[in-house]
Amino acid sequence: MRQQIAAANWKMNLTLQQGEQLLNEIIAKPHSLSAHQSAVFAVPFPYLPMAQAKLAGKTNVFVAAQNCSNKKSGAYTGEVSVEILQSVGIQYVVLGHSERREYFLESNQFLAEKLDICLASGMKPIFCCGEPLEIREAGTQNEFVAKQLAESLYHLSAEQLQQVVIAYEPIWAIGTGKTASSAQAQEIHAFIRAALAAKYGAAVADTISILYGGSVKAANAVELFSQPDVDGGLVGGASLIADEFVAIINALK
Ligand code: 13P
Repeated sequence: MRQQIAAANWKMNLTLQQGEQLLNEIIAKPHSLSAHQSAVFAVPFPYLPMAQAKLAGKTNVFVAAQNCSNKKSGAYTGEVSVEILQSVGIQYVVLGHSERREYFLESNQFLAEKLDICLASGMKPIFCCGEPLEIREAGTQNEFVAKQLAESLYHLSAEQLQQVVIAYEPIWAIGTGKTASSAQAQEIHAFIRAALAAKYGAAVADTISILYGGSVKAANAVELFSQPDVDGGLVGGASLIADEFVAIINALK
């Protein structure tokens, strides 16, 4: 079975102390991860070592950065490179979140550069895609997402692509409480997998984990994750509440 992943995206929330407390609470609650399941915590940069230390030794639990630079190293004040992240033990990074695309003007081409640096160094990207409301209302979400995939991913080899986790996050569902229905999620996840299959072959496409993000919570996770092409979730608000996120982990197939 493809890897099923519950990924927490804390975004720019919580103090260090609150983050520690949240991880303590999550660790203390009963949850189990089988070999094909993982939990990932994307925390603010300064909390990466704290989270690494708290989660050390836990099987199939990983800490992720929420972003990285498109440059390898050098005079880029305020940026954080893949090498810096790896030097503190980080193996995953979220790339191309819609908030970075919207507020920091990250383009598909710019994200392709970040993907290249990650993959050249063995860093696993969680690559986000997804359409805004007006695109969904116009019914052109498949074309919109296909362009994001083509411009950021399709220069990669099949071996490189297989290191990438994809997160489909419709912007209209992020932080709005308005979740895509499980049928809507399945439809576009199947479209993404078919698009990858057309480019890389079905055997490769079948191995790629495609997460759904956008108002995932304990109450809808089981139904969303039960869809055949939904391989878990990238979770914002509900990942800040221990009971909610543990239930989401336990909802993985
Ligand atoms: P919410 O779960 O708060 O809607 O956020 C989703 C998201 O953006 C995760 O990256």
